[in-house]
Amino acid sequence: MTWNPSSWRTLTAHQQPSWPDAAHVDAVTAEISSLPALVFPGEIDRLRADLARVADGHAFLLQAGDCAETFTPNTEETVREKLQIILQMAVALTYAAGVPVVKVGRIAGQFAKPRTDDTETRDGITLPIFRGHIVNDDAFTAAARQPDAGRLLRGYHQSAATLNLLRSFTKGGFADLTQVQAWNLEFVEAASEGQRYKQLADEIERALRFMRACGIDTTGASSLREVDFYSSHEALILPYEEALTRRDAVSGDWYDGSAHTLWLGNRTRQLNGAHVEYLRGIRNPLGIKVSDNITPADLVALVRHLNPENEHGRITLISRMGVNKIANGLPPLIDAISAADLSVAWACDPMHGNTFRASSGLKTRNFDDILNEVKIFFAVHRAAGTWPGGLHVELTGGDVTECLGGSVGVSEADLANNYTSICDPRLNAAQSLDLAFRVAEFLDA
Ligand code: PEP
Ligand code: CO
Repeated sequence: MTWNPSSWRTLTAHQQPSWPDAAHVDAVTAEISSLPALVFPGEIDRLRADLARVADGHAFLLQAGDCAETFTPNTEETVREKLQIILQMAVALTYAAGVPVVKVGRIAGQFAKPRTDDTETRDGITLPIFRGHIVNDDAFTAAARQPDAGRLLRGYHQSAATLNLLRSFTKGGFADLTQVQAWNLEFVEAASEGQRYKQLADEIERALRFMRACGIDTTGASSLREVDFYSSHEALILPYEEALTRRDAVSGDWYDGSAHTLWLGNRTRQLNGAHVEYLRGIRNPLGIKVSDNITPADLVALVRHLNPENEHGRITLISRMGVNKIANGLPPLIDAISAADLSVAWACDPMHGNTFRASSGLKTRNFDDILNEVKIFFAVHRAAGTWPGGLHVELTGGDVTECLGGSVGVSEADLANNYTSICDPRLNAAQSLDLAFRVAEFLDA
């Protein structure tokens, strides 16, 4: 079958909203098609090259951000705090392990959610399920839950504003390594992770001072002043992705201009499904979520289908098994990929296999389960002789109480104190930094 940006339309697309007005979807996506892409082929190609280094064992991927971004409090402050915590984590990982870190946010477009059920029932009332702010609203009313295609356009504009801010932060001086102290978030400073980070930042400042004293111009070095920070989201709402698909005039290749990299969710990775068909034709690097419900043979077939030329940096396999399944679930997949000689980067999502409901009904995760899944991920790769290439986590720069444990010791009774996620529970800033320091120790071992 020949590919084009709409060839997915002949296949089954799971997890799509029931839009009440198909003509409205068409009108909105036509408008989005006429607007500029959000990211550009040169940037996407650079990320692919960075991920090729991850696949080859020379760099580490840190992909992090909200489970679901919201339309509401997406202020400058929340974007800056998310960037700050990711930069801090990257510094902790780079400094301790001496490995370059490829930084990718679940940001500037991570609005759509796959769901287990199509509807939700509360007190005898059944409404459409919340599918993320790019589709409907999370409030439990019939009006809020009605899918509204106008939200696709709003998602586009909010992604553009977020990317604009991220570009100015990362290229305009805020990410300058001489600012390493300034990234420490106020409410983390007092915690043990904040103190540990401060020490590390002091050491980096001393090293930079030493370099300057030796006559090295650290202010002129763009590698110290600027960082590459990439955007990503789950490729879920296919009319939106199609509307942002553009052909590069120079190479003639197709790119999805909605984010630098897209991932295929655990529920939409059917080999003959619409999502796989769409993603096969774009040049963006792709993530694939894998749990223990994919067979080694099916995974090999899927990777071959999405990367027929076996190009380095094209595919990142994001294992999300759960702490109790990874030790048995991951090795057969690694063995099959290695035996088939396929080039992939391996990353660990220690979040999605470890979610449960606390007695209050709130969804949560244990910091220790998250840490232990990453620990086993490293051990499995070390035993297989493959590179444990990355970490994929849900976090926020705020001091939320959504995941249990960590040095700050969030307990079940604390969960309701500051639970603001509209979907899955995120690590707070202190838990995130704590995790980065621990992972740096695994990397350095
Ligand atoms: C997610 O990353 O938010 C998600 C839904 O993951 P998965 O597809 O792995 O369940
Ligand atoms: Co999630």
